[in-house]
Amino acid sequence: QVSDSLYIINKFAQQFFTEVLFNTDEGNNAGLSYLKERGFREEIIKKFELGYNPEARDTFAKVATNAQFNESLLQKSGLVVARENGLQDNYRGRIIFPIHNQTGKIAGFGARLIRNNDKAPKYINTPENEIYVKSKILYGSYFARQAIDKADECLLVEGYTDVLALHQAGIENAVASGGTSLTPDQLRLIKKYTQNLTILYDGDNAGIKAALRGLDLALEEGLNVQLVLLPNQEDPDSYINKNGVAAFNAFIKENKKDFILFQLEHALKDAGDDTNKRSHAVNQVAETISKINKAEEFTKQQDYIHKTAQLLNIDESGLHNLVNKYIRE
Ligand code: UTP
Ligand code: MN
Ligand code: MN
Ligand code: MN
Ligand code: MN
Repeated sequence: QVSDSLYIINKFAQQFFTEVLFNTDEGNNAGLSYLKERGFREEIIKKFELGYNPEARDTFAKVATNAQFNESLLQKSGLVVARENGLQDNYRGRIIFPIHNQTGKIAGFGARLIRNNDKAPKYINTPENEIYVKSKILYGSYFARQAIDKADECLLVEGYTDVLALHQAGIENAVASGGTSLTPDQLRLIKKYTQNLTILYDGDNAGIKAALRGLDLALEEGLNVQLVLLPNQEDPDSYINKNGVAAFNAFIKENKKDFILFQLEHALKDAGDDTNKRSHAVNQVAETISKINKAEEFTKQQDYIHKTAQLLNIDESGLHNLVNKYIRE
């Protein structure tokens, strides 16, 4: 009941924001020109149903109240907030990215400032409510599911605009996690379509950390995980804008790394000559390999033990025992 009403409010809001974006002066001059300057074309803007929320205090709040939407539900949707002088728009002066669930219904929104500033966060998102549970949603999954199925691979990126840029470039098997580490529910969602996950995170420390945190979970879900770290300060959107889609595809192809081996190399680099740290790295990778632990994945596990032993130049049977120890734990 509450859920149904929230979906209706969100659809109503999206239609309003899209209308503002395309058919008002403010929407055109602020919103649409911003998106176009960033290289997004009308086709992709319309497909993803983007919009614009005007700067004024309560443009949407007024329209929604006039349409008889219940005030407490409007607040719950996150589209408005209650102030002393009445309801106020929450996403004033922001580009609106509707977040569709797997069935195409709008569960929530991301809203981006047109110009970054220090006082307000670049993006704000719908607060958790009956239909917007962040840990269960992947941005773009509704538009990506067929392509994921066909390619038998899911590309995972950080941001809304990365999904848009990739889909616009014809790479439609991309979804975004929203900048946080992956949750078990999101991994299960991916697994409905494919076993093969390729993570394309921003090449900064935060990106690497976020990616590494998701690894053990992904392995436990039985996914094959590969990682591509983009050059420093780039994300898929900025990379494609600078270098074009052919260069992007080539970069991905050349830099795709198996995630387990990536983690090991990363740990070994950190360890240097420190014996304690090196042995910690070995234990860590053994524990990771132990997560590949289903009967049908036995060969995969043996493969990793073999490759890891080679990389480390250590005895394979010793590593075997170590992995088995973690399986028993
Ligand atoms: P980024 O900072 O990489 O932004 O955050 P972006 O996606 O590249 O966006 P543009 O290109 O600057 O427009 C990655 C994701 O993290 C979430 C958003 O989902 C964003 O897409 N995020 C980021 C927030 O929720 N709030 C923020 O203030 C920043
Ligand atoms: Mn980032
Ligand atoms: Mn970006
Ligand atoms: Mn980014
Ligand atoms: Mn072997």
